[in-house]
Amino acid sequence: MRLAEKAALITGAAAGIGRATAMAMAREGARLVLVDIQAEKLDARVREIEAEGGTAIGLKADVSDLAQIERMVAASVAEYGRLDILFNNAGVTRRCAFMDIDEALWDHVHSVNAKGAFFCMKRAAETMIAQGGGTIVNTASIAGRGFPGTSNAAYAASKGAVIAMTMQAAHALGKHNITVNAICPGVTRTELFQNILEMRSEKDGIPLAELEQQAARGIPLGRVNEAADIAEMAVFLASPAARNITGQSINVDGGLVMV
Ligand SMILES: NC(=O)c1ccc[n+]([C@@H]2O[C@H](COP(=O)([O-])OP(=O)(O)OC[C@H]3O[C@@H](n4cnc5c(N)ncnc54)[C@H](O)[C@@H]3O)[C@@H](O)[C@H]2O)c1
Repeated sequence: MRLAEKAALITGAAAGIGRATAMAMAREGARLVLVDIQAEKLDARVREIEAEGGTAIGLKADVSDLAQIERMVAASVAEYGRLDILFNNAGVTRRCAFMDIDEALWDHVHSVNAKGAFFCMKRAAETMIAQGGGTIVNTASIAGRGFPGTSNAAYAASKGAVIAMTMQAAHALGKHNITVNAICPGVTRTELFQNILEMRSEKDGIPLAELEQQAARGIPLGRVNEAADIAEMAVFLASPAARNITGQSINVDGGLVMV
């Protein structure tokens, strides 16, 4: 098992990519702290993992709040004595035209996707430095590389920030034996994706099935991601096989964006 005995903290673990990665990391032997703002779904995720013989605890916490980040890392240390892996994945967005973005949307998206991601990295690194190393995997997005089909410009900016922070953190933390990488998912079938499609369908009067077909158009490999496609990359980046990779943001998108 590629992550045997590792203690991993996963944010945004109740749904979508976080959920799939939690299942995948548990199957590879990691012991998990699952963090999300949706407490009931978290309980279901813990039961799901335990039913497969894995080990997980759930913690309701908001990554945009520094005091709650402190509780997240403390929970891993209290439960497992350490923190080896941070999958820094919680994120929010909604579809919004450039000229309709207001301050509230900007602040909300950035408080979770950029500020939350930074302070989760910083606090996790503090514990990893003290224990001699660790690995951080951030969830960015092809939005951060300028993909024009993104949900909105504030979201794209927040994911560009994640790509930049990944490089900065890799520079700063390499000497502490901590790798920092990011995954840039393309269009991925999750609740977040489904909500965006439903909003578009309602607003523009386009049938949902047609929007789903549209989403796959232009993807060289011809299909959108399943959450498991991202989970595979997260497990690889968190595993010893990736020990000499750091500062990279890797697209997992069927070839939709090639820069
Ligand atoms: N789905 C896509 O097409 C896609 C594409 C590129 C990047 N991403 C990124 O992947 C990540 C996961 O997205 P997903 O598609 O699985 O979305 P999702 O909405 O299915 O899951 C996101 C989870 O994060 C949780 N969350 C939201 N705000 C939080 C907060 N403040 N603190 C803790 N948890 C919080 C939600 O409750 C939810 O369970 C996000 O960072 C997203 O931006 C998704």
